Amino acid sequence: MDKIIVKGGTPLDGEIEISGAKNACLALMPAALLTEKPLTLLNTPRLSDIKTMIDLLHSLGCEVATMKEESVIVISSGKNTKNIALYDIVRKMRASILVLGPLLARFGKAKVSLPGGCAIGARPVDIHLDALKKMGASMNLKDGYIYASSKKGLNAINYKFPFVSVGATANIIMASALANGQTILENCAKEPEISDLCRCLNSMGAKIEGIGGSKIKINGVNELNGTTHNVIIDRIEMGTYMLAPIIAGGKIKIKNGKKEIMGSFISNLIDLGANVDFQKNGIEVSSPSNKIKPIEIMTEPFPGFPTDLQAQMMSVLTLADGVSKIEEKIFENRFMHAPELIRMGANISLDGRVATIKGVKEIIGAPVMATDLRASVSLILAGLAASGETILSRVYHLDRGYECLEQKLTACGAHIKRVKQ
Ligand code: UD1
Repeated sequence: MDKIIVKGGTPLDGEIEISGAKNACLALMPAALLTEKPLTLLNTPRLSDIKTMIDLLHSLGCEVATMKEESVIVISSGKNTKNIALYDIVRKMRASILVLGPLLARFGKAKVSLPGGCAIGARPVDIHLDALKKMGASMNLKDGYIYASSKKGLNAINYKFPFVSVGATANIIMASALANGQTILENCAKEPEISDLCRCLNSMGAKIEGIGGSKIKINGVNELNGTTHNVIIDRIEMGTYMLAPIIAGGKIKIKNGKKEIMGSFISNLIDLGANVDFQKNGIEVSSPSNKIKPIEIMTEPFPGFPTDLQAQMMSVLTLADGVSKIEEKIFENRFMHAPELIRMGANISLDGRVATIKGVKEIIGAPVMATDLRASVSLILAGLAASGETILSRVYHLDRGYECLEQKLTACGAHIKRVKQ
């Protein structure tokens, strides 16, 4: 298994171009199941999660072609599309559940494996199932599978999500695009990836209003067309590289950076004491002129602080000049990076969903283990600031969500390399 070795202590200086958003792609690719015409996605990232979604679509009988070093994906869900998503693929990635809504809406039948929990929490899919039931689908859970059927098509609904769920919002919007009548969804996730999905669906002929808001109206249509859609950039990747010079020192210019997809995150960077400069062709972040200032944050749905940047922020706060607090409100078990950071000399105490981080003067490189995607990159950030060498194992977590990470950081002067073992 590969390892990544980081030699810390060198301030960063360079430019980084952000890749297409993994989470946008993982919702856009299943949208291809809503039509027999091809859906072409541009600006797709080369990541193992995208490969898993390609495998899933293949297994469903779709034709999937990749071009231009996999930055273009063309998906055709023709007449031979099957409606069974098998456990062997679904278990690898929870976003596989996003095929349920489209399969049911187009074919009136689907058998999809239940995804099961994951390292960061139980992550049930009860809201997805509840909303689809209310649209008239029958749902039976047997042998670890969801057996869903709606022979006469899905009916439009007025539905308020009991709490904000990114995946459930995406699934139900896709299902509603082909439902009979006008669906009104309230308490929708407002994440930029949901807006990107809606824009793509509208370009396929869907009738979606209220994009980007918590209330979304969808007038169902009989069929959708193919289209070509440019995937938005990855705000989590962007946030990660904005935090890098704050912990490691120096500056990084995010070449294609966009402020509007970052929600409240930029104000957190300023609270840390970082300098954020909005330029014509990007955003430059440079390290605080004095020490990093401690902050208190809680994770929330967009536009609040994203749970997917919580681990990276914790790494930065290990070196702050005082005591910081992080409350994790989205997932129940998302502090697994903390014990690894403690092994590097950080002072962190955990009490349920609250982490208290007392800033230390320095952190020291150590062999550490990635436990999930964002935890893995938080340890890389810590490694950039640590004295000595940090050796990260279980790098496959990182490869789920960061395209060319070593190359991007090396271009900014970091000493980071991957070793094959
Ligand atoms: C998506 C993102 C993930 C991000 C998360 C929260 C993708 C592919 N993944 O995951 O990177 O961390 O949003 O921003 O886009 N829940 C239920 N029942 C449900 C659905 C969700 O209880 O039916 C709970 C989850 O366990 C979690 C919370 O709701 O505690 C939010 O989850 P959700 O927004 O659905 O996350 P995902 O779509 O799985």
